[in-house]
Amino acid sequence: MFALRRVFTLALVSVACASQLNVRQATNTNAAINSAVDTLDETLHHVGPTILTLMANQTASDTTIGQQMTALETAFNKTTATLTGIAVSAGSTTVKPTNDDISITYSDVMALTATSLSGIIAQGKVPGFPAMVATLDPIMAKTTLQLNVTSPASLVLVHRMMLDASQFFVAEKFTQTLAALGF
Ligand SMILES: *[C@@H]1O[C@H](CO)[C@@H](O)[C@H](O)[C@H]1NC(C)=O
Ligand SMILES: *[C@@H]1O[C@H](CO)[C@@H](O)[C@H](O)[C@H]1NC(C)=O
Ligand SMILES: *[C@@H]1O[C@H](CO)[C@@H](O)[C@H](O)[C@H]1NC(C)=O
Repeated sequence: MFALRRVFTLALVSVACASQLNVRQATNTNAAINSAVDTLDETLHHVGPTILTLMANQTASDTTIGQQMTALETAFNKTTATLTGIAVSAGSTTVKPTNDDISITYSDVMALTATSLSGIIAQGKVPGFPAMVATLDPIMAKTTLQLNVTSPASLVLVHRMMLDASQFFVAEKFTQTLAALGF
């Protein structure tokens, strides 16, 4: 009886240890996450300046800005799909790319999106812009929330880094993205 109870207790202990081990051994997938966010950031470094040039050279229209907004939809959709396919990261505050590296790059993505679109309403050349925002907003919110799942709590730093630029999202009416970012 005593022996049996001992075996039972040992079994319980080993189950408890195994589940703790699983938590401890969760993979640091930051490299894959960082790569996906970097790719998105590269797209923004291309699309953002194009939008600014279209406004500066007086060729902003539903057609030209619409093409850039579609490029953004595609890029954010692709990022969501990539992030969804990556295991939730155990993360690291020391090994590169760190959790903060990922959040900082995503903040750059958010700030570039917010600022490069900021003159469109005032210029008045793109009547379809509100409808374009209404399409892009939930797509971007989805990417943002997925980032926070795959890189847990990564939005805490993104929120802080977006304290200033979030005003542009407010003016452009990216309500779902703002909510995802905690505004
Ligand atoms: C305006 O800028 C866009 C984007 O860079 C470019 O494709 C287009 O050729 C330019 N148009 C004029 C008239 O300068
Ligand atoms: C992005 O994804 C949404 C739904 O997930 C879909 O409705 C939309 O057509 C996609 N847009 C592009 C440009 O890929
Ligand atoms: C982000 O993730 C953290 C924990 O991983 C959670 O507490 C927080 O509510 C999430 N934020 C959003 C906007 O979902």
